[in-house]
Amino acid sequence: MAEEKPVVLTCAQATGQLHLGNYLGAVRNWVRYLDDYECFFGIVDLHAITVPYVPAELRKASLECAAQYIACGLDPAKCHLFLQSHVTGHTELAWVLGCITPLGKLERMTQFKDKSRKQEDAASFIGSGLLYYPVLMAADILLYNADRVPVGEDQKQHVELTRDIASKFNETYSDTFKLPAVDIPKTGARVMNLQDPAKKMSKSDPTQTGTIFLKDSPELIRKKIGSAVTDSDPDRRIVSAKENSGIPNLLDILSACSDKSVEALEQGFAGASYADFKSAVADAVVTTLAPVQERYQALVEDKAALNAALKDGADAAQRRAYKTLGKVYRKCGFVERPR
Ligand code: TRP
Repeated sequence: MAEEKPVVLTCAQATGQLHLGNYLGAVRNWVRYLDDYECFFGIVDLHAITVPYVPAELRKASLECAAQYIACGLDPAKCHLFLQSHVTGHTELAWVLGCITPLGKLERMTQFKDKSRKQEDAASFIGSGLLYYPVLMAADILLYNADRVPVGEDQKQHVELTRDIASKFNETYSDTFKLPAVDIPKTGARVMNLQDPAKKMSKSDPTQTGTIFLKDSPELIRKKIGSAVTDSDPDRRIVSAKENSGIPNLLDILSACSDKSVEALEQGFAGASYADFKSAVADAVVTTLAPVQERYQALVEDKAALNAALKDGADAAQRRAYKTLGKVYRKCGFVERPR
């Protein structure tokens, strides 16, 4: 029998439009796991409803996001891409795990504190789902017995909580879950806003001129990069060690899109004008995104292919999920359903 590959799992909330920061900082790194791991990628719609939202927008964003992930290289023939709500087991396991998770720990989670404060400021109500969010996330991970969980720095605390919950379950019942390792990418650019390099590139950028979306046309990409802020350095130095300047971010972007090191780029562009440098950055971004845009266009024209991919992903995820859930329910002392 073929040896089972180790499991990578990661999930993200559907943002309607992915941007260059999502691609270079996250999704492109996930693609690197496809050959050596069994990969599960979830779009977590159940998590999305922990804060106020619009149902029709969620539905649209979930499908759009799935299409964009596939376009980015999450080839459905090589991984399982699924919507969280398509798989029975996430919420069931979350319930069981919640019963062994101390309330105080959930109340102390950074993300809960931030998000509940924001909600309070917006004078809207704080649903208990927000408190329970990390337990559902632990269930996402443990349901697949993931070996590795690639996430950004901001999610590290959640994966650490998952390890604690897994240990607690193993001690309380018996050895069941692997303790998942957090994978924070060392490579992969942290892409900043082109108009305000102190902020991360984000889809909630109000003007959108500082954010490059994967769907932006080559002309628009060139325009946005052309008008990116730089600095007023009289020497026009293209170097990474600079404060209050857009140049380091453009160097990072070019490095990520050309596979050349920042040092090599600094040398290559010594003495070049900012305009020439920007046009090289724009060329590299346009070239990097071209195949993504092509695949995306093909998927938009072939809805059946997208549905088929999501069905296969959900089926594979469900098989795993039932296996884990069955085991967990037996250990918990639940009577097996008579057949
Ligand atoms: N909380 C994660 C985020 O906001 C999304 C997420 C949900 C996740 N479940 C997960 C990430 C499981 C990794 C593994 O980005």
